[in-house]
Formats: sequence, structure tokens, C-alpha cells
Amino acid sequence: MTDPVADWHRLAATTVLLDGFHALKHALRFGAEVPVAVTADRTAALALADELAPDVRDVLAALLTEVPHGTYSSLVPRPHPTAVAALAVRPSRESHLARLARTPRATPVVVLDNPRNLGNTGAVIRLAAGFGATGVVTTGTVDPWHPTVVRGGAGLHFATAVERLEVSGLPSGPLFALDPEGDDIRGVKLPDDAVLAFGSERTGLSPELRARADHLLSLPMRPQVSSYNLATSVAMTLYHWSAGSGAPL
Ligand SMILES: C[S@@+](CC[C@H](N)C(=O)[O-])C[C@H]1O[C@@H](n2cnc3c(N)ncnc32)[C@H](O)[C@@H]1O
Repeated sequence: MTDPVADWHRLAATTVLLDGFHALKHALRFGAEVPVAVTADRTAALALADELAPDVRDVLAALLTEVPHGTYSSLVPRPHPTAVAALAVRPSRESHLARLARTPRATPVVVLDNPRNLGNTGAVIRLAAGFGATGVVTTGTVDPWHPTVVRGGAGLHFATAVERLEVSGLPSGPLFALDPEGDDIRGVKLPDDAVLAFGSERTGLSPELRARADHLLSLPMRPQVSSYNLATSVAMTLYHWSAGSGAPL
């Protein structure tokens, strides 16, 4: 019989925290390898699975070990209302780079150019997962697998290829950079192999990204408004792509 708390302490530094039932549910659905999962209330967790995730109920039942609430709380930064937590193996960079490089590409890659807000990056990964995007690439210093980003992504990092790259190493494909000064996006059909790039919350698109861009596109916005939030800009752009393509959703 293995000790889940000992396993947790052995693995925590090299794995990804899945914080809460929904993060664990999503990660399992998209093939994450989960070596340890704990809950302070196994009956409640499995009742949630019956209600919301019957597709992964049996896997959850086999994985989840009940521990006292105090033990559960000691393993996470702050307790989640569902009192569920798990550790997942981070997919290899090589596997992601291979997915990002594969052509022809059926769905876009989203690029966040030096994003600063970890919650925004998580929200974008959730959007990319929802729209079936090939991946989310970040440039700059933020690790897109930072625990706060993973929390914001609701376990959906496993549904798309999430990596950090240099601008010079971005995947091939026509690069559409979003900027309030660009041409109106409503007149453009975005191709399925598009690379869709968005600027930093503070400073917008970097000179390197602008130099690599094939097209500069704007989202409709009244003149008195300076810009939209980064994640909402990604949402509008992915929606525009999906509305104009035969995306496999
Ligand atoms: C919060 S905005 C950046 C604002 C920043 N102060 C600037 O100078 O651009 C973050 C990113 O969202 C995208 N974005 C926001 N509003 C947009 C709009 N109206 N049209 C196109 N892209 C927009 C752009 O990619 C922008 O770089």
C-alpha cells in the first residue's frame, strides 16, 4: 500500500499542481499522467464526478485517496472548495515542440508576446483549449506552466501545447498580430494555420514580433477606448477564426 502523502512530497517539486476537482477532471480528460490525487471528502468528490464527469468517474475512483482535512490543507497553498488536489506530470518540451511544428496545421497557434499577468495567461490557455487551438506559445520571462497560470487554466494545459519560445523560434505559418492600429479584423478570414499574436498587457507588441508579423489586425473598438484586456482580445479573435472556418469543434 503506497502512502499518498509521502508520494506527494517526493513528487511535488517536479510536477504540476492540479488544484480542485475541475482541474483534475480536465487534466484526466486530456490525457494527463496523474501519479497522486488526494481529497478530504472522497464521497463528495465522487458525487461531483457522477454529476459532472461520469466519463472520468472510474479513473477518479481509482486515483483519489481520502486524507484528513488538515493533511489536505497542508499540501496546497490554499484549500479549494472541492477539497481535491492532484499532481500531474508536465508533458515534455520535445513533444510540444513536435506538435507545434507539425504541418499542415488544422487549427491556429496563439502567441502571447511577453505576457505579464499570470491569470490572463491561464485564461488564454483555457480559451485555446476550448477552441481546439494547436497551442499557446509565450515569449519573455513568464513560465506558462507557473502554478498560478495552471490554476487560471483550470487543468486545460493538457488540452493544447503550452510552451515558451523565442520570437525567432515561433511556429511557421502566416502571422497575424493583433494591435489597435491594424486593419479591421472583420474584413479578414483567418486561415486554420494562422499564428495569432497578442502583445503584452503593459507595452503591446514587441518590435521583434512586429517585424515578424505578416498582417496587423485590429478588433472593433470605439476611438475613446485605448485597448481591450489581453484574454478578451484572444477570445474575440479565436471566435472570429472559428466563425469563418470549418474548425473541427
Ligand atoms: C491590454 S492590450 C495592450 C495595451 C498596451 N498598453 C499597448 O500599448 O498596446 C494587450 C493586447 O491585446 C490586444 N488588443 C487589445 N485591444 C485590441 C484592439 N482593439 N485591437 C487589436 N488588438 C487588441 C493587442 O494584441 C494588445 O497588445
